Amino acid sequence: MGTTEAQVEELIAQMTPAEKAGQLTQYFYFGLPAGAETEPALGLDVERHPRMVESVLQEGGAGSLLFVTDPTEINRLQRLAVEGHRLGIPLLFGFDVVHGLRTILPVPIAMAASWDPGLIERAQSVAAREARAVGIHWAFAPMVDIARDPRWGRIVEGAGEDPYLGAAVAVAQVRGFQGREPGAPGRIIAGPKHLAGYGAALGGRDYDEVSLSDSDLWNVYFPPFEAAVDAGAGNVMTAYMSLNGIPATGNRWLLTDVLRDAWGFEGFVVSDANAVRNLVTHGFAADPSDAAARAIGAGVDMEMAIVDPAYEHLPEALESGATTQQAVDASVRRVLEAKIRMGLFDTPYVEEDHAREVLTDPAHREVARVAAERAAVLLRNEGGLLPLDGDKLGSIAVIGPLADSKRDTLGPWVFDHDLDETVTVLEGIRARAGEGLRVAHARGVRVVQRVFPSMFDMFGGNAPDDPEGFDEEAEFKRAVDLARGAEVAVVVVGEWQNMIGEAASRSSLELPGRQLELVQAVVGTGTPVVLLVMNGRPLDLRWAVEHVPAILDIWYPGTRGGAAVANLLFGDVSPGGKLPFTWPRTVGQVPMVYAHTRSHEPENQPRRYWDESSTPLFPFGHGLSYGRFEYADLAVDQPAIVTTGTVTVSVEVTNTADREADEVVQLYLHQRHGAASRPVRELKGFRRVTLAAGESRTVRFRVGPKERRYWNAAVRDWVTDSSSFDVWVGADSTAPLATVFEVKAE
Ligand code: BGC
Repeated sequence: MGTTEAQVEELIAQMTPAEKAGQLTQYFYFGLPAGAETEPALGLDVERHPRMVESVLQEGGAGSLLFVTDPTEINRLQRLAVEGHRLGIPLLFGFDVVHGLRTILPVPIAMAASWDPGLIERAQSVAAREARAVGIHWAFAPMVDIARDPRWGRIVEGAGEDPYLGAAVAVAQVRGFQGREPGAPGRIIAGPKHLAGYGAALGGRDYDEVSLSDSDLWNVYFPPFEAAVDAGAGNVMTAYMSLNGIPATGNRWLLTDVLRDAWGFEGFVVSDANAVRNLVTHGFAADPSDAAARAIGAGVDMEMAIVDPAYEHLPEALESGATTQQAVDASVRRVLEAKIRMGLFDTPYVEEDHAREVLTDPAHREVARVAAERAAVLLRNEGGLLPLDGDKLGSIAVIGPLADSKRDTLGPWVFDHDLDETVTVLEGIRARAGEGLRVAHARGVRVVQRVFPSMFDMFGGNAPDDPEGFDEEAEFKRAVDLARGAEVAVVVVGEWQNMIGEAASRSSLELPGRQLELVQAVVGTGTPVVLLVMNGRPLDLRWAVEHVPAILDIWYPGTRGGAAVANLLFGDVSPGGKLPFTWPRTVGQVPMVYAHTRSHEPENQPRRYWDESSTPLFPFGHGLSYGRFEYADLAVDQPAIVTTGTVTVSVEVTNTADREADEVVQLYLHQRHGAASRPVRELKGFRRVTLAAGESRTVRFRVGPKERRYWNAAVRDWVTDSSSFDVWVGADSTAPLATVFEVKAE
């Protein structure tokens, strides 16, 4: 027995059933302001909750806490667990380090739009460093749920619609959080979530049931999870909803047969918040005790709970025989192993001075700026309106309430940010403009309120408001007048950050409030308009695409967002991001994915909808540049291979513009016939390259059995067919340049 194992077994031998149940319980510890109102659904008494948790810690009744980010508080609570109880088992502190802790990075969908795994890894290593410095050991991230329905608000937290891109982004994030070993300084445990299928909620309504075919699960929804597990993720979180009728948190097939047996996951599984108790709500478990027994039986090691954890009933479930000592001990073992791995028995506390230093590291802000630059997607640039020439331009009008909203610039899922150092678009443009350029700003329209309150409103500043005495009519007119008098109008539109994220689904994709009307009025002045879109999901931009020459998707760009946007607008850097989802024209087309299969009369497009085109507004992978890229000499090194073989595809990419720029070279594959009908195109390779003015580069991709295999629903296994394969390489999922190769049986 190794020392770790011996230490774990020694502890387990001393633990009572109640202490084991405690070790498997994670409590929220909310530092909400006294008197804060919490959602009734949270069932939380803000005044009493902290005292309750503190006494639980001293009874050995919790293995982990979440939502504490202050190092002094973390040390205080850790001390209660370590010194307040005879076993002295340290707590794991977990938190939603989704896109940064203090330094806020662009939202995850934006990071995915960079198509730059190296950048994503670097960015999450910054997040990990800050988190670890304050005493957080574990991130509830990455969210690797495939999202094919933009009505679902959590599309902003993931990498979009594609399993190949999703897997690459998942791996980069796990590496960024964990490095080579999550116990190392500046690293934390990554917890990919929410296993699995959560993004396919019926109607895009958060938490609603999910029905996914075997083929969809294995070919589309599982790959990012499997990739994250392969990359060594130390934790996995379950999902709230039921998958094909079985709640994910009580789904043994999902959490044991697939996760542990098929993928070899060795870490620990946590439930989503209150998801174990919810097994009763689902009409699956009879009562909390049954819920506890069935969750642990399915493979949920730790329960995340707000109040009244179901795992409190584990001792009684043990007594009745509803669960076994073996199952409980196996879960305790996994949790203790994670604590040992994180070095917590040796070093349970953090150095508060060190934390302060790390949180103010200017290098972190630089990573955030570069990330925001690399994430932006240039959707349209008619007549080369962008980049703006800062030397020639005399005046610029910056319009829209989002243009100067610090909180919205950061996006959802941030709690520990610093508004003072957040740079808005307006501030970024002002700072970049210098003396010669007049920059004026008008909000134009009022802050649009959500129809329902957000579950995040209880955190200060999350519910936006207008300035005192705001007069919308006067302000609208002022905005239009400013635009009329300026040489260029930059209009920032989108969704307020609390309109997207968890429990923020929508039934429409329109710009909220009077924003479209504002854009139309500004365009009506005749002043050239650059539209900046602040969003985490595609929005209905049909009018803008017809009438606005330049559209740049800046997402929720984070702490240094405005600085990055200014650099992009004035051409200090060229946009190089690409869409990680198909951008529909209207909500009525949803769901719409590029990797669909072909069926009856595919070319007869008008028969699909008689009132709307069946093409998207922008295809998956779309994104323009200030460079100009030409693709040539697409070749496969062998015309035919056997099923175990690999071809190398090469293409020459040239930047014919007179400036340096990035391009994301994308490879798509199509199997012409076989044991199943396969999608018309699937992404199977990509590379982001920087090319100097006039530079050419040969880019190579390997397409082997792994890229060609797929899960066949009839065979219920992976299949590699012999067939003809079309290959396209180019700038997006409609790339025209094509070649073909054959795969023959051995
Ligand atoms: C979300 C999770 C999150 C957890 C803790 C839940 O409501 O679904 O993604 O990690 O809360 O904040």
